[in-house]
Amino acid sequence: MDFKTLDAMDVTDKTALIRVDINVPFENGAVSDFTRIDAILPTINDIVAAGGKAVLLAHFGRPKGKVVPEMSLAQVRPALEARLGKPVAFAEDCIGKPAKDAVSAMKPGDVLLLENTRFHPGEEKNDPMMAASLAALGDIYVNDAFSAAHRAHASTEGIARLLPSCAGRLMEAELKALDAALGNPARPVVAVVGGAKVSTKLDLLGNLIEKVDALVIGGGMANTFLAAQGQAVGKSLCEHDLADTARTVMDKARALGCRLILPTDLVVAREFKANAPSEIVTDCPDDAMILDAGPESVAQIVDVFKTSRTLIWNGPLGAFEIEPFDKATNSAAAEAAQLTRDGTLVSVAGGGDTVAALNRAGAAKDFTYISTAGGAFLEWMEGKTLPGVAALEA
Ligand code: 3PG
Repeated sequence: MDFKTLDAMDVTDKTALIRVDINVPFENGAVSDFTRIDAILPTINDIVAAGGKAVLLAHFGRPKGKVVPEMSLAQVRPALEARLGKPVAFAEDCIGKPAKDAVSAMKPGDVLLLENTRFHPGEEKNDPMMAASLAALGDIYVNDAFSAAHRAHASTEGIARLLPSCAGRLMEAELKALDAALGNPARPVVAVVGGAKVSTKLDLLGNLIEKVDALVIGGGMANTFLAAQGQAVGKSLCEHDLADTARTVMDKARALGCRLILPTDLVVAREFKANAPSEIVTDCPDDAMILDAGPESVAQIVDVFKTSRTLIWNGPLGAFEIEPFDKATNSAAAEAAQLTRDGTLVSVAGGGDTVAALNRAGAAKDFTYISTAGGAFLEWMEGKTLPGVAALEA
């Protein structure tokens, strides 16, 4: 990784255009999770403390190049002010006169939020004119939006090539943590990949088996692998058409010396609902579905965690949203948290569902690093180049 950090930049009296990701969840008209807002505060605070002007560039939702009032960033401003503990000015457009006037009115130490960059079609097209209009507003560019770095947009990629650029504190922390987990990890490395479908995680599995020593497959995905081995999966979520693909992954893992860990006992139920009567079996009955991994499988996973030095986790092991089918995820997460506290394991996790599952398990706070990214984390796990990061390295 070869990029500048904020430490290498002189921000005093400078207008710093900071790309942040405040694409945050809302419930009943208010921000319901502050994780992404809190994560960008160090960068804003450092720039403000050094006498710089902090201008925030961000998207919200997917307005597809049109002004969609429900996707205005004005709604996020109160939460930003509350967490930052200072006023945040707002400009009704991220380029043109409203943006220029708002920037001109700033004094050192001020913070300004510009309206949703995706209200302009040039943002997602990475239009050079759009990037130039954004760049014209400031002196330096700071990218603190790792979670949007998989998008080659004007505010994440194009602009970085037009101004002196660096990674913000969050971007730096994300990249360091991810490098420690997969780029240059302490071995053995174990990955946990769960979630519903193999089809959405094929690239990820392909990349991981080349890099990790053990790969735990959980959730609905595991059913496809079990079925490919000829095991009964009853009415379980299963992509039967991907049996050949699953067998190819298993063969490749064997050839590369990557140990694949699939559930050996299964928690099955007749209904997908909380507290549905369940049983532990090794073969799923025809009229039942697999909703979680059983205790023997969890013991096996925990054993692998104990002999590993690095864990990278994406996706739950079972139907974690409904009790008691969150048990395997919770138990494995609790063990990972304990080993991390003991100092024997470096644990990194990312992806929307994963973080929700680890939070529910009460384990997230003890993980070495929890990424703020969803899609970007997956693409990084797939071994893809993230355009927003590549532009900083250029
Ligand atoms: C996210 O929420 O993962 C990022 O903000 C990226 O959003 P996008 O998938 O709409 O590009």
